[in-house]
Amino acid sequence: MNGDGGILPARVKRELRTSVFGRRIYYSVAIDSTNRMAVDLARRNEPHGTIVLTDFQKQGRGRHTKRWASPPGENLLFSIVLRPNAPARSLLPVTLAFSVTLATTLTRVLQKEIGVKWPNDLVTPQGKLGGILSESAIRGDIAQFVIVGIGLNVNTPPANFPADLGCTPVSCLSIGGRRLDRAALLGRLLFDLETAYDEFVRDGFAAFVEEYDKRLIILSRPIRYMGRSGGEEGRVVGIAEDGGLKVVRSDDTVDVLYDVEIQDETD
Ligand code: BTN
Repeated sequence: MNGDGGILPARVKRELRTSVFGRRIYYSVAIDSTNRMAVDLARRNEPHGTIVLTDFQKQGRGRHTKRWASPPGENLLFSIVLRPNAPARSLLPVTLAFSVTLATTLTRVLQKEIGVKWPNDLVTPQGKLGGILSESAIRGDIAQFVIVGIGLNVNTPPANFPADLGCTPVSCLSIGGRRLDRAALLGRLLFDLETAYDEFVRDGFAAFVEEYDKRLIILSRPIRYMGRSGGEEGRVVGIAEDGGLKVVRSDDTVDVLYDVEIQDETD
């Protein structure tokens, strides 16, 4: 996997061992956002497993209206179209299953432990390695599609990251000490993500809880968050089977958090 030969679809396809993930690839040298394009495609009936892949995003989207910035030609920026045909409620933790899967695969590739920061950040003590943004369309109670957008810092040297990102970015290059071939890495990630997705559909998030807790860097740590009655504090005790973050407050009551921004000592 040493050295980078680029991510043109022909190269990526040579690396694929999946049944559906990445069997259709829309590649652009540059695009506004792969999530934006994947949402548009999914609205026009693009099949399950298609990926949208690029070398550069002009308006990469992050969670909570943040942006995702990545220098051209160095990293992985892609979105996967999922058509689970399941109640939207049951799909909340699919991105958590994906983030813990990515962390496990990258741990094997880099030979360094990669952690997750709830809900979807891939982190190391040196900084943030990647993130996931999912977007979905729901009709009635059923998800029409889910787009899982993944940004992973692969070959960017520290000096090439833009300033003012709002977090400390780090790449696989800095963690593992070598440039990786992005097509080979993408092939491996897609295989592991497809396997994880099949397991998620079969058994739900329960199958991922133990590994997620093991990699959760804020486990047992104090955090601050916006609760129902304003700013609250608590200690993280693990992940719930529906993907919520379980927190014990100082009065020993338990709170389960969904879609809130948390602050902790790693910020
Ligand atoms: C986050 O940590 O805030 C999530 C970042 C997700 C970024 C990826 S890059 C590929 C895909 N397209 C986007 O516009 N965003 C996601």
